[in-house]
Amino acid sequence: MKIAIIGGGPAGLYAAILLKKQRPQAEITVYERNRADDTFGFGVVFSDATLDNFEKYDPPSYRRITQQFAYWDDIAVHFRGTVHRVGGNGFCGCARRTLLMILQERARELGLHLMFESDIDEIRGLADADLVVLADGINSRFRDKFAEYFQPEVDLRSNKFAWMGSTRPLDAFTFIFQETEWGPFIAHAYQYEVGRSTWIFETDPATFERAGLEGLSEKQSADRMAQIFGWFLEGHPLLTNRSMWRNFPMIRSKRWVKDNMVLLGDAKATAHFSIGSGTKLAMEDAIALAEAMQRAPTVEGALQQYEEGRREEVEKTQHAADVSLVWFEHVDRFWDFDPVQFAFGVMTRAKAITYDNLTLRAPNFVAEVDKAFARQVRAKGFDVDVVKPVAPMFQPLRLREMELTNRAVVSPMCMYSAKEGVPGDFHLVHYGSRAIGGAGLIFTEMTCVGRDARITPGCTGLWNDEQEASWRRIVDFVHENSAAKIALQLGHAGRKGATKLMWDGMDRPLEEGGWDVLSASPIPYFTDSQVPREMDRAAMDAVKAAFVASAQRGEACGFDMLELHCAHGYLLASFISPLTNQRTDAYGGSLANRLRFPLEVFEALRAAWPAHKPMSVRISATDWAEGGITGDDAVLIARAFAEAGVDLVDVSTGQTVRDAQPIYGRMFQTPFSEQVRNEARVATMCVGNITTSDQVNTILAAGRADLVALGRPHLVDPSFTLKAAAWYGADGVFCPRQYQPGREQIFRNSVRDRQDFDDLKIKAKPKTRAELKAEATKPLAAE
Ligand SMILES: Cc1cc2nc3c(=O)[nH]c(=O)nc-3n(C[C@H](O)[C@H](O)[C@H](O)COP(=O)(O)OP(=O)(O)OC[C@H]3O[C@@H](n4cnc5c(N)ncnc54)[C@H](O)[C@@H]3O)c2cc1C
Ligand SMILES: Cc1cc2nc3c(=O)[nH]c(=O)nc-3n(C[C@H](O)[C@H](O)[C@H](O)COP(=O)(O)O)c2cc1C
Repeated sequence: MKIAIIGGGPAGLYAAILLKKQRPQAEITVYERNRADDTFGFGVVFSDATLDNFEKYDPPSYRRITQQFAYWDDIAVHFRGTVHRVGGNGFCGCARRTLLMILQERARELGLHLMFESDIDEIRGLADADLVVLADGINSRFRDKFAEYFQPEVDLRSNKFAWMGSTRPLDAFTFIFQETEWGPFIAHAYQYEVGRSTWIFETDPATFERAGLEGLSEKQSADRMAQIFGWFLEGHPLLTNRSMWRNFPMIRSKRWVKDNMVLLGDAKATAHFSIGSGTKLAMEDAIALAEAMQRAPTVEGALQQYEEGRREEVEKTQHAADVSLVWFEHVDRFWDFDPVQFAFGVMTRAKAITYDNLTLRAPNFVAEVDKAFARQVRAKGFDVDVVKPVAPMFQPLRLREMELTNRAVVSPMCMYSAKEGVPGDFHLVHYGSRAIGGAGLIFTEMTCVGRDARITPGCTGLWNDEQEASWRRIVDFVHENSAAKIALQLGHAGRKGATKLMWDGMDRPLEEGGWDVLSASPIPYFTDSQVPREMDRAAMDAVKAAFVASAQRGEACGFDMLELHCAHGYLLASFISPLTNQRTDAYGGSLANRLRFPLEVFEALRAAWPAHKPMSVRISATDWAEGGITGDDAVLIARAFAEAGVDLVDVSTGQTVRDAQPIYGRMFQTPFSEQVRNEARVATMCVGNITTSDQVNTILAAGRADLVALGRPHLVDPSFTLKAAAWYGADGVFCPRQYQPGREQIFRNSVRDRQDFDDLKIKAKPKTRAELKAEATKPLAAE
């Protein structure tokens, strides 16, 4: 077999090594345009997990790599004169040049042909190869040559960065967030060998411009960085090596394989440097390709297996890198945070590291985070313990005069079980048990303001006396038997109305017994859905009056809070999104126009709803669709509602148009809550695939939301909050006296269970290489 590999970076060299080990008879050639020792850049980092992989696939190169590597365990965050260190991270680094030398040496040992100074321009010269590996890096010529086939997408990110080096020794992966007269600068730095560290400098485009960096030479910009970070560099110089300022290209390719050609490493996909995964991905691609070549009988089959098997892992890493890079792009959102909360945000930005995980590794750091959170709560007038505070989830919150005893919320969820809009016994038990279960706040399902405002025939309503009486019974039960507050969510289904119950076909039009539906514009939801009537002014007035009448009934029921549903494609959402609003009057066109009617309804409700009671609005912060609402729009929408008196924005996403392309994942809507909260400066509630109290605490402690709602988890576990309180030893969560024996038991057992769980986790965690190295070099006397 003949294999041609274009590119002698980590991906190309490692693929060559693994393939040669597998097929000693194969003729494998690596073509590299540069000279053997002619490499850009400074260090690369790997996690312990990546090194485990290397150990498995090629022990000789693994041994040499680990002999050369510098290890460290801590991450240090410098911000506004403070430094917070967190251990247990398990990273190592070495010079990119050293890594390449080790791989080249190993390749030669195995009899590979390494052709340096061979700039490949055409595939034609390699026509006799059975397999062509395109590992030609971030600016891949061949990805571009076959762009129509590979369909790459290049998203050039806004921040500017430059990769430099220094002789400054570092004993931790170091982030420095530096205020300057021009704006914030960030340094990502780590030591990769004795006397050498990598320094990546990053800043937003406006700061870059104000600092006059455009057009400066490498030397001049290194001098400018040395000036800014001089206090930390302690006289050590900054070194340059093609250290030009660039914008990071986030690259994704729809296809990775064409005939006998395959894209590997940065050529196929990139991951932002802030999670240090570029070289890891490149080398793990090589592993995946070699595995596929081992298993499949033909090259064609192997390439197909490689692409199918590898894509999910790559996309997951890219997603984590995306989340991380967005955090760095918006660092100004957190600039006024308490430094310890800021550091917690840095640590938890990409989801893998959480509150509980940090509690195990750095209990003192998390204790400081808890204290900072408690101090903020105390500053709002609550008499909370700031010396030994409870976890953020169990800290109180006040909205107008409504006080919540904790931050866990039951998200609004339709039960599709009402008769003519009247909530029945099912609803009483449903809401009642969730209130007893300890959540601080319970939302009703979307309760409709008229018969024709319903989504389905099973939706609850609040337009007549019978409904009002039934709701009052529920509200009274909640107030009499729990500490929870209960919020009424009012909505109008719009074009998603007259549809079937969830279990008969979500959003599908009713075959019989339907009613006429309204929307901003006459666009049906499904192509075969009912075409809605475009609302005229009279219809708007009628709907507004219906909302006000329902709110007044809500007040009569004793609800503590009112939410206006402007999300998920229902009537008011249909005005906000440009994809569903094509009006040419004062209610269509600009965002201000599209918001006009929803704001009118909100203002009318605000006027009718008692001034001491809070109001929230639920929005879809993105349509997840081309040309639709984006996170930036959501900030403007939230600001507009805040000016009209909203106390909380309930940040959901999507469900507005059929052809949306949501990116699901753990806590997938939280970045939108974070953006709205910290840019529009309004309290938010986030929701969406949040399933553990650990995630709730992580979100709250990092300042990504003020409340956290859980929908589906509460469907199967009404006592989610009480159980979490036992786990965290938070005494204050209400439990009715009838259930006290159960409460005492779970609180007692939780202390032991938690200890066992933590012990197990600590035992199960393999020692990081930094820990092993420290043990190996410990002086005997110390043992
Ligand atoms: C600022 C910055 C910081 C980074 N920090 C880290 C980090 O800390 N940790 C980490 O793991 N990764 C990091 N990376 C990413 C890392 O450098 C790359 O992800 C990794 O090198 C990808 O390996 P590769 O083999 O796919 O591509 P490359 O290393 O780019 O190798 C491609 C090779 O192909 C050669 N080539 C290109 N075209 C041709 C041609 N036509 N003919 C012949 N040869 C050709 C090039 O000369 C090059 O040697 C960073 C990247 C940047 C930009
Ligand atoms: C069965 C069901 C019914 C729902 N009904 C409503 C509703 O009436 N009003 C609303 O705003 N959201 C509704 N939602 C959305 C939830 O409030 C929540 O945003 C969503 O389930 C995501 O959160 P989760 O991952 O915690 O479930 C509903 C969700 C489910 C699963």
